[in-house]
Amino acid sequence: MSLLGRIRGEILESGPMPFERFMGLALYDPDGGFFGDGPLRSTKAGDFLTSPEVSAWFGRTLGRYVGGRFAALASPTTLVEVGAGSGSLLGPLLASVAPVPERTVAIDASPAARRTLEAAGYDTLADLADLTEPFRGVIVANELLDNLPMRLAARRGDAWEERWVGVGGAALELVAAPARADTTDWLERYAGPVPDGGFVEVQLAAYDWLHRALRLLESGSIIVIDYGATAEELAPRRSIGTLRTYRAHHLGPDPLLEPGATDITADVNFTALLGGAAVAGASATLHRQDDFLVGLGLRDDLAELRDRELELARGGDAMARLQVRSEIKDAETLLHPRGLGDFRGLVVEK
Ligand SMILES: C[S@@+](CC[C@H](N)C(=O)[O-])C[C@H]1O[C@@H](n2cnc3c(N)ncnc32)[C@H](O)[C@@H]1O
Repeated sequence: MSLLGRIRGEILESGPMPFERFMGLALYDPDGGFFGDGPLRSTKAGDFLTSPEVSAWFGRTLGRYVGGRFAALASPTTLVEVGAGSGSLLGPLLASVAPVPERTVAIDASPAARRTLEAAGYDTLADLADLTEPFRGVIVANELLDNLPMRLAARRGDAWEERWVGVGGAALELVAAPARADTTDWLERYAGPVPDGGFVEVQLAAYDWLHRALRLLESGSIIVIDYGATAEELAPRRSIGTLRTYRAHHLGPDPLLEPGATDITADVNFTALLGGAAVAGASATLHRQDDFLVGLGLRDDLAELRDRELELARGGDAMARLQVRSEIKDAETLLHPRGLGDFRGLVVEK
């Protein structure tokens, strides 16, 4: 039976399901979930183009920060990437990091991604929870937390309701449900300004993920990069919320229409992650991606690349010049102030 059919069956038997259960099934069900089966998603031919897929300069530049952390930690050190996808971040990062970690682990929920990572020679796991022994090192996650199953809440006057998934005729529909206590607690702390009738994606799973990562780290850093912003910055978008779907590089249909056929995602609320780090006693800083990469020297790299392009234009190989031009264009995309440059990077140090 299709994933949609099984979800309908479960609701007809047990009543409406919490949105986070629906999102978990739609993304991770081994038989029909978007990441559960099917092809590798984060590639040019796939569904979304991430920073490391756009340019190797993302991993190379991040490697400078990561190398600095390894230099400050006693051996042995470990590098973990969660949601490692095709490995397009790990490759350039490891090539630029100094000193190199003793161990590297690539984690991804998608079997297709794990096959690719294994074929590239990485030590591969399916879930951060599969790592049980604490270590010194760095945990990196690029465009992961926007996927972790969320609850949906709606503001009703001074109170909150949740939105669960029910069945309406042949289709799935959102239905009102009382807000659970931990939902309300998260909302009161981290939702920020929300108008009456507005929607918030309650990112408790991302909050818990950060705490799990912090428990695993004896000392070192966690770097989380994603689209999203602070609760205050997200306030203008709260009247309809930020939940959306992606397929083949375009915004997709209503998340309830074709579970498993589209990515389901929302902007990451970084205020909640800053709060989660503070609750765990860790220090955290939030950066725009463009500022973070420029701070690590990407503008200087671009200047060198432009000098090289000029040299090649003055009598070098035309093909080599075109390659350098394309490398410059891709690296500049990482800094676009209304595109990837507007992503946020949370750096948590322990
Ligand atoms: C948007 S892609 C990003 C891939 C890669 N980080 C990049 O930047 O190109 C999200 C990746 O996270 C993986 N993923 C999603 N949820 C996950 C989870 N809970 N644990 C581990 N990996 C997960 C997906 O399979 C996918 O490969």
